[in-house]
Amino acid sequence: MLHKMTRGALIVFEGCDRCGKTTQCKKLVDALNRDGGKAEFMRFPERSTAIGQTISGYLEKKSELEDHAVHLLFSANRWELVPKMLRLLNSGTTLIVDRYAYSGVAFTGAKPGFDLQWCKQPDVGLPKPDQVLYLTLSPEEASKRAAFGTERYENTEFQERVAKNFEILKEHDWKIVNAGKSIEDLHGEIKSIVTQTVESSKDKPILKLWS
Ligand code: TYD
Repeated sequence: MLHKMTRGALIVFEGCDRCGKTTQCKKLVDALNRDGGKAEFMRFPERSTAIGQTISGYLEKKSELEDHAVHLLFSANRWELVPKMLRLLNSGTTLIVDRYAYSGVAFTGAKPGFDLQWCKQPDVGLPKPDQVLYLTLSPEEASKRAAFGTERYENTEFQERVAKNFEILKEHDWKIVNAGKSIEDLHGEIKSIVTQTVESSKDKPILKLWS
């Protein structure tokens, strides 16, 4: 009996600062692999490439870049990873991705003079996530967690504008998950959502984002 190769799912995590996105992504990858699936962690920006290093220097405020130019670099950083993403997805590996094009649009769109429509254009046609999980945290809960770091964008006023943009970008099929609970409870909730998506994506084509 010949088994048809089924693809992995593209799962994207977005959300506010300090909501525990990265912790949850990594726990999820471990859990999926333990259950006998194949899963890999990815994150954007992917700072290891030449483009990623330029972005990283900008975020660490070691260099200045024009706002449009850095927006296009964030997008280019996703496009340069697309061949790898498609290779992994098509070979049956589920990708758990920490931030994606929605962050790209929400963050640049929080700068003065940028409209969301312009911000979306460079990412049109990227692989479309099979599921976006949007982690939310009330400002009260967020303020109880560790303070902001020192990177660019890590201030309350900017983050509030980013959150508003996420609300505009949100699509009907996003899962909105309240992150104001224990790591284990949150993990359980996320794992059950993602397990279903992995199953239901197996035989579906990979669609294109915003097109
Ligand atoms: P990240 O490395 O995820 O840092 P953190 O763990 O602090 O969230 O993201 C770095 C910053 O880059 C973060 O402030 C969000 C921002 N960003 C953009 O401005 N555009 C993008 O396209 C992406 C993916 C992130």
